Amino acid sequence: TAPFVVSAPGKVILFGEHAVVYGKTAIAGSVDMRAYALVTPRKDNKTRLFLPDINVDERFDNAQLARLSPSSLSHPSEIETQLTGIAIAEGPGRSAILTFAYMYSSLLGAGNTGGFTICVRSLLPVGSGLGSSAAFNVVLSTALLQLTGQLKKLGGSAEDRKLINHWAYRGEQVAHGTPSGIDNAVATYGGFLAYTRGSESVSLHSTRALRVLITNTHIAKSTKVQVANVRALRERHPQVVDSILDSIHSISTAAGSLFQSQEPHCSELQDIVRLNHGLLATLGVSHPSLERIREITAARGMASKLTGSGGGGCALTLVPRDASSAAVKRVAQELEEEGFGCYQTVVGGAG
Ligand code: PMV
Repeated sequence: TAPFVVSAPGKVILFGEHAVVYGKTAIAGSVDMRAYALVTPRKDNKTRLFLPDINVDERFDNAQLARLSPSSLSHPSEIETQLTGIAIAEGPGRSAILTFAYMYSSLLGAGNTGGFTICVRSLLPVGSGLGSSAAFNVVLSTALLQLTGQLKKLGGSAEDRKLINHWAYRGEQVAHGTPSGIDNAVATYGGFLAYTRGSESVSLHSTRALRVLITNTHIAKSTKVQVANVRALRERHPQVVDSILDSIHSISTAAGSLFQSQEPHCSELQDIVRLNHGLLATLGVSHPSLERIREITAARGMASKLTGSGGGGCALTLVPRDASSAAVKRVAQELEEEGFGCYQTVVGGAG
């Protein structure tokens, strides 16, 4: 095979985080900070997994990978037991190695693919709620499916995407247990998706992508802790919290119809961004740094909300369509002066 490159975007939750845990609708979109995989053939019969951003550089014997039995690989620790001779440190590198071994043995098995190097680079910060692991799993499944010759148009067709998404989800399961599947769906299909637990995600046909700023507080967040805090608050005040969750659902519904019906970037969208953030703050999942980002951007007429689990992580700021690039630069600079990491990007672009 000739060398090839594939890429996939990250995701942001636009509306509905936390409420989605209780069966309400959330809306997520692709964020054009991408993961890229470069696959190059090798002369020896080894496979090298090279992930310089997370300090992984492993060379596997193809025979060893082929010997792994995928049917018994449902749990990461079982994969690890079978990968004798490879020292796997804790952290994001561990998930990456185990998902790679899992996908390789499931897709390539003992097939005679020959050796190759797969190098993945990513612009997505790890562990910030931007779906870096899903983007990794989508490029990984695309690359390996391409090597098996199963893709018709290198991921371009509807059938290809379905297959890619399926295997990326399996990778997400190895890495995270039982994730909702929205991250890998957004990374595979791009655009905007409405997601409700227990039903298929619905893609929203928006007329155009949104300009946004994504601001990283650099404060490590724990989805588990934030979800548990909301659960405890709900146990103490069921009616109050349920009505907040219902309001968040209404916000997602309103956003869904805005995306379907008209140019999405309008003052109504700004309103619902503010409303959604206020409700999340009421649930206790904001953080002083997220409030600071909201204040700085509000002073420049831009609406912001936390995105994902909160308590740190990232904030999302809508950039008005008529904002000049100088104005956006100024806000980004103000945010960076306070120590935040700021990315100008678009939401709703290609998968
Ligand atoms: O920050 P993230 O991308 O892990 O998002 C968490 C979203 C929650 O709604 C808070 C939890 C969930 O499982 O949906």
